[in-house]
Amino acid sequence: MHMHKYEKIWLICGITALIVFLAVIGVSAFYLGNKPPSCLTTINPEKVDQTAPFNKPGLHKVEGQEWDYDLVIVASTFTFNPMNVKIPIGSKVRIIATTKDVVHGFEVAGTDINMMLEPGYVSEYTATFKKQGEFLIVCNEYCGTGHHLMFSKIEVVK
Ligand code: CUA
Repeated sequence: MHMHKYEKIWLICGITALIVFLAVIGVSAFYLGNKPPSCLTTINPEKVDQTAPFNKPGLHKVEGQEWDYDLVIVASTFTFNPMNVKIPIGSKVRIIATTKDVVHGFEVAGTDINMMLEPGYVSEYTATFKKQGEFLIVCNEYCGTGHHLMFSKIEVVK
């Protein structure tokens, strides 16, 4: 089969680009361990208060893990529980959150922490808090008439 020179060059470029893309995704997923911020852990939304760890919302020290604290958050119209969290500076925190009713958002303003909380599912994200100060947690999914009142606060302290 005869192929034009330019056709060959483009074919090589295309195949090379495909291999590079797959290699980047492969290294990112399997070597660096990157994954989407939400996993598919399920929960009965009617029994959130009785289901561990959501029966004890707040910051909990953990031992023997790659991270230092678990931050358990329960969202419901129109609050986050807990309302105010103090995190020691430099801590690696695994945030575990769910909602008791409708879809809510969980965004820590000024950081890359941004999750959607869906009824029946548990959302998870691990982050290190390196900057001291106050961070606003906002709901960024419209959830009803009190949506704009739904916020909470993280204080990163020494
Ligand atoms: Cu919760 Cu908007």
